[in-house]
Amino acid sequence: MKGLVLYYSYSGNTEKVAKMIQRATGFDIAEIKPVKNYEGDYNSVVNQGKKEVDNRVEPEIVDLKCDLSQYDTVVLGSPVWWYTFAPPVRTVLSGNNWSGKVIYPFATNGGWLGHTFEDIKDMCRGAEVKSGLNLKFSGTAMKTKKDEIEKWTENIKQGGEL
Ligand SMILES: Cc1cc2nc3c(=O)[nH]c(=O)nc-3n(C[C@H](O)[C@H](O)[C@H](O)COP(=O)(O)O)c2cc1C
Repeated sequence: MKGLVLYYSYSGNTEKVAKMIQRATGFDIAEIKPVKNYEGDYNSVVNQGKKEVDNRVEPEIVDLKCDLSQYDTVVLGSPVWWYTFAPPVRTVLSGNNWSGKVIYPFATNGGWLGHTFEDIKDMCRGAEVKSGLNLKFSGTAMKTKKDEIEKWTENIKQGGEL
């Protein structure tokens, strides 16, 4: 098994969890970065995010520093934006072939996960998408217990029976 932790993070929460998962699994790690960062105050980012999610925008992203075709297992992390994954993740999901890969999605959010994991499944045709890890935050404080992350990553290391 060759695994990659692949994530987007706007304000750092998803990155924090991605790094925890990377340490626990020993997988490689790669960040999804939009060419043009979301700027302005929180409310304007929330509004821009809504427009992009509603219009299924695929913002241009910086070339990934890894070759996805080399990995059979991908742990995919995104913040929840308007009840789904964030637009830069859409760019990566629609621009690559996921066939034959095993995907473990995780999503950080303020308590409204929405249809994030179902939407990832829809985008990754031909992949086996495992049950996702829902991580609740209040601001930058993680409300989900670390044990849950440990259990979830342990399952990945065991070959992902769940
Ligand atoms: C544009 C935008 C939309 C959001 N929409 C949701 C949402 O639908 N449900 C939710 O629970 N939290 C929502 N949030 C909160 C984020 O999901 C949460 O703060 C997340 O942990 C941020 O991760 P990050 O620090 O990795 O960017 C939204 C935040 C932004 C900026």
